[in-house]
Amino acid sequence: MPRDLRALVADVGANLVHSHASQDVKVVHGDLKEGSHESKPIENDGSHDSAKSLSKEDVMKSLERSKKRNATALGTPKVPNVKWEDVGGLEDVKKSILDTVQLPLLHKDLFSSGLRKRSGVLFYGPPGTGKTLLAKAVATECSLNFLSVKGPELINMYIGESEKNVRDIFQKARSARPCVIFFDELDSLAPARGASGDSGGVMDRVVSQMLAEIDGLNDSTQDLFIIGASNRPDLIDPALLRPGRFDKLLYVGVNSEASYRERVLKALTRKFKLKEDISLLSIAKRCPPNFTGADMYALCADAWFHAAKRKALASDSNSTGSDEMDVSIIVEYEDFLKVLGEISPSLSMAELKKYELLREQFEGSSR
Ligand SMILES: Nc1ncnc2c1ncn2[C@@H]1O[C@H](COP(=O)(O)OP(=O)(O)OP(=O)(O)O)[C@@H](O)[C@H]1O
Ligand SMILES: [Mg+2]
Repeated sequence: MPRDLRALVADVGANLVHSHASQDVKVVHGDLKEGSHESKPIENDGSHDSAKSLSKEDVMKSLERSKKRNATALGTPKVPNVKWEDVGGLEDVKKSILDTVQLPLLHKDLFSSGLRKRSGVLFYGPPGTGKTLLAKAVATECSLNFLSVKGPELINMYIGESEKNVRDIFQKARSARPCVIFFDELDSLAPARGASGDSGGVMDRVVSQMLAEIDGLNDSTQDLFIIGASNRPDLIDPALLRPGRFDKLLYVGVNSEASYRERVLKALTRKFKLKEDISLLSIAKRCPPNFTGADMYALCADAWFHAAKRKALASDSNSTGSDEMDVSIIVEYEDFLKVLGEISPSLSMAELKKYELLREQFEGSSR
């Protein structure tokens, strides 16, 4: 992008001048100490300019700085550090995303001639099933900038401000392409129009602005994507779910199959040190059927904590031992069993059933 490039060149230049200036100061100081003759900074300047040339490192440093600046301007600290390996299971959802996001990115020439491109994906399903996690992984794995927006953040009490916030988000995303805009809790940002009781219809105008911006995306190139996440897609304005907008609905749910659970556990314990004979499959078989991904996360975190506590107590009791204590924490099968009895699923079977019904309703209507 020309504007970014210009800023980069300006930054490199400014830095070069800056490093010269500091060198000059050193020279001047030296002269003053000696106190024998007057310094001639102007002449010094000239000689340094010819001596110092631009190195690759200078440019790289400036590039890093401008990347950081971009990230803060976007309101995001950085590209999230979530990899595909951190997401267990959900293979079909992953595949669907890659088709929507990565394929057009890699084959721009093929896809630009298409009739209509898909721009938006909506993840829906019960809480704690990995929707937010997935969106973060997409951004990392496709090396896209990630602009995360939580519904309630955009809403402002002043007239016209909320719409402006929506416009600004899309503007920021356009200047940071390739980029994903992630709308978390989309139902709170775009409730069905006419239904909300707020005075002045702020929400209605926000939805209209969203529709206009998303339609505007279709004219641009292939590298801006929108991903939404919601627990309640039935509350979202139906116009947003029309083709050309969030038209691909992906259910992210609870899968109680043991081998599937094992893959989630494997992802969650990726950075753990597990005892060699541990069988994640048999732990998976012991999980209640309505265990969500977030519950599995709690299980693993608690098991690790249990192991750490065991280790700490053991080291306290034999404090006479050598200084070279092994500090690595090895999580054992018993740690998992112990905490498994203490964790209760965050979602009841009845609630899960409701989500499954919702899924039927949406999948039925999209076919
Ligand atoms: N499939 C999974 N693989 C690995 N970890 C998972 C998975 N699903 C959930 N988790 C864990 O659960 C945590 C919560 O998931 P996440 O925040 O993505 O849920 P969510 O679907 O966005 O929920 P909500 O609808 O409440 O926003 C994640 O940080 C992660 O540690
Ligand atoms: Mg979430």
